[in-house]
Amino acid sequence: MPVIRFVREGVDVECYPGENLREVALRNGVELYGLKGKLGNCGGCGQCITCFVDVIDIVEGDNILALSRRTQVEELKLRRRPKTWRLACQVLVQRSVLILTRPQVSLSDAERRVSAARTAELLSGPTEWPLYGLGRNVSAEQSATSNEGDEEPALNSDTVA
Ligand code: FES
Repeated sequence: MPVIRFVREGVDVECYPGENLREVALRNGVELYGLKGKLGNCGGCGQCITCFVDVIDIVEGDNILALSRRTQVEELKLRRRPKTWRLACQVLVQRSVLILTRPQVSLSDAERRVSAARTAELLSGPTEWPLYGLGRNVSAEQSATSNEGDEEPALNSDTVA
């Protein structure tokens, strides 16, 4: 599964392949918007042009595009912006990437932070899809085994509040 490294925030966030970058960021408390976007963004329709991100780096491999190609909306709205800029709401993430949110806002010590983000290993993520809701991650295989016969999955005492 892809890992998105948000350079400004200094956090790595895992997502499912094909997830929308804006949704992943918001779900994990990563701020995408400046003041204008906070006051009124389009909710991910590609109309407000406030969810800029800069794609710093991508993890190559398997000939799979790390991110979906620019949409027609992006081609139109970003034509005067750097080629590495995207609209988070238009991006689907397939592989691990380094992302700078709000690239239009200066970042103190930017060079050092970007360099450090590039240097630290960026994992491609676990190969199994996590299952949530049991208080811990369970692999799909373990879950299938424990759900045989439609029995409720066993909870151990340290997963129950
Ligand atoms: S949220 Fe409005 S353009 Fe992305």
